[in-house]
Amino acid sequence: MKQDEIRELLDNTKRYFLQQKDLFGNIIYTETDVKKKSNDAHEISMPTDEPWTETGNLVDLDKSINNCLKCGLGKTRTNFVFGVGNPNADVMFVGEAPGADEDAQGEPFVGRAGQLLNKILAAVELKREDVYICNILKCRPPNNRDPEPTEMELCTPYLYKQISLIQPKFIICLGRIAAQWLLQTNGTLGSMREKIHDYRGTKLIVTYHPAALLRNPNWKRPAWEDMKMFRDEYNKIIQR
Ligand code: URA
Repeated sequence: MKQDEIRELLDNTKRYFLQQKDLFGNIIYTETDVKKKSNDAHEISMPTDEPWTETGNLVDLDKSINNCLKCGLGKTRTNFVFGVGNPNADVMFVGEAPGADEDAQGEPFVGRAGQLLNKILAAVELKREDVYICNILKCRPPNNRDPEPTEMELCTPYLYKQISLIQPKFIICLGRIAAQWLLQTNGTLGSMREKIHDYRGTKLIVTYHPAALLRNPNWKRPAWEDMKMFRDEYNKIIQR
């Protein structure tokens, strides 16, 4: 074993024993942990032999992937929920996965959480049609269970393709699950908020999921702070 490998092993062991745990025994990650992990936002490789990877616009991409059966959710979904909004959007919102309303209508964020998202957009002087809205998973997990890592792994190349076609200036992650997945970290939502991350060259901001705000209105104030931070950054870019 090389000296730096031994040092890293010792560091990790030390960190393990010094780790703080919450009441439920979950590890509380420190800022440094989050930073260290989020520096290597993951690379899921794009398939090399699937024609959709060559599509040049969102309409064709939707047509060529909306019959996807790569994971089990293909069998239980009503509709494939591709995404909606401006194909040239500067801002892309990424949620977790479609819920019952989205599965029924084939459009992301159309239920109660979606109505709140529309209000959040209005608060920063944006409309649904100005931005692009999608999810990590394009199909609804039964009973709204959390997405499984394999499902996210199989679906993420579609998101990469959407990002590469839209080329947004900002990605706003709605909720812990989407943010943890894109930043490849186990950090808490609190540790991921209030900073501008770099996600494969695009600015990425993390905020509460609108469904969480419906459950706990006390989080609306910090969510507003997140959106103000976003708007300030966005203003800097559009004024250039
Ligand atoms: N929750 C999500 O994460 N996405 C939706 O589209 C709807 C609810």
